[in-house]
Amino acid sequence: MRAIEPRGRTDASAIRIRDLTVLYHTERGMLPALKDVNLDVRSGIITGFIGESGSGKTTLAMAMMNTIRLPGRIQRGRVEVPNVGNVLEFQGERLRRLHGQMFGFVFQASSNSLNPLKRIGSQLLDLGRSHGLTNGRQILADAKALAHRMGMDADRVLTAYQHELSGGMRQRVGIIFALILRAQVLILDEPTTALDMLSQQAVLEIVREIHVEQGLTTVIITHDMGVVAEMAQRVAVLYAGRVVEEGPTPEVLREPRHPYTRGLLHAIPRITGSLEEAQPLSGSPPDLTTVPSQGCVFRDRCPLRMPVCDRVEPETRSAHGDGVVACHGVTADD
Ligand SMILES: Nc1ncnc2c1ncn2[C@@H]1O[C@H](COP(=O)(O)OP(=O)(O)OP(=O)(O)O)[C@@H](O)[C@H]1O
Ligand SMILES: [Mg+2]
Repeated sequence: MRAIEPRGRTDASAIRIRDLTVLYHTERGMLPALKDVNLDVRSGIITGFIGESGSGKTTLAMAMMNTIRLPGRIQRGRVEVPNVGNVLEFQGERLRRLHGQMFGFVFQASSNSLNPLKRIGSQLLDLGRSHGLTNGRQILADAKALAHRMGMDADRVLTAYQHELSGGMRQRVGIIFALILRAQVLILDEPTTALDMLSQQAVLEIVREIHVEQGLTTVIITHDMGVVAEMAQRVAVLYAGRVVEEGPTPEVLREPRHPYTRGLLHAIPRITGSLEEAQPLSGSPPDLTTVPSQGCVFRDRCPLRMPVCDRVEPETRSAHGDGVVACHGVTADD
């Protein structure tokens, strides 16, 4: 596994997410998918969001861009961007313009974001225009170069309709759509799940190169600790709508503090280095209707469970130098 440059610690300005609470409508009323999330997504590095299915990763990315739609609602919180302000206060045309300048987003299952009736090249031009890029020839040249770098026949991809492409090709096209915009913040939601290992490696390599070339702030959402280990300088671990641990990736992987992070790591033979030692996390994560309304949301699966965990939700404490952990069972760094 490739070593990570020691760039995780940085005081660079960040997208500051504060007290972010997002609700979805369920059969039991409006319930939180994110609760009081506090997180700094630092500029110029790759941050991984990791957690099991349903932990709130996509919701957090959408809320960062203020694109939560019904049946969801942002109940409270702020997403502060330096020199921009609170993204959650932007609406309508102002929000659309902000998206154009700031965010490139690759949707999970990116095929859904493509128009079935238009060729890929023409959709790229539409997208560029809607984001204020007027040089169509440049857009197509950039797209071709990216397609080529991702191991695809560039001419074929640009003249194809979505149904003519395989799932893996569509996923790579989704990534090209986001990269072409030259946004400042690139968010990739499960960018490589439909790809075989070799294509995954190639695509991640290109994302990393573009991240450096364009000086981006990048977020990679994944279930895969291996992707985090290879790509991300910092990692935020989500569980049941909470950030339970955050810090520089090397530190978090070397010495995970939260029992959930430890469980995630021990579930992976690639990381533990031994198939025998790899153990799946017992139990399964709660859904919105079964998340405990008080106490620690992880306690039912936790080897460190204590009486206080049933009553009091743990506050975040400092860990890994400039990171955090939220667990009654671990002591703070200082
Ligand atoms: N439109 C919606 N309506 C109701 N509940 C929703 C909606 N979207 C997400 N949820 C719920 O919110 C929680 C967080 O979902 P989210 O999609 O953010 O998780 P995720 O971590 O991205 O999961 P995955 O890894 O499966 O993509 C889940 O319990 C999910 O069922
Ligand atoms: Mg998701």
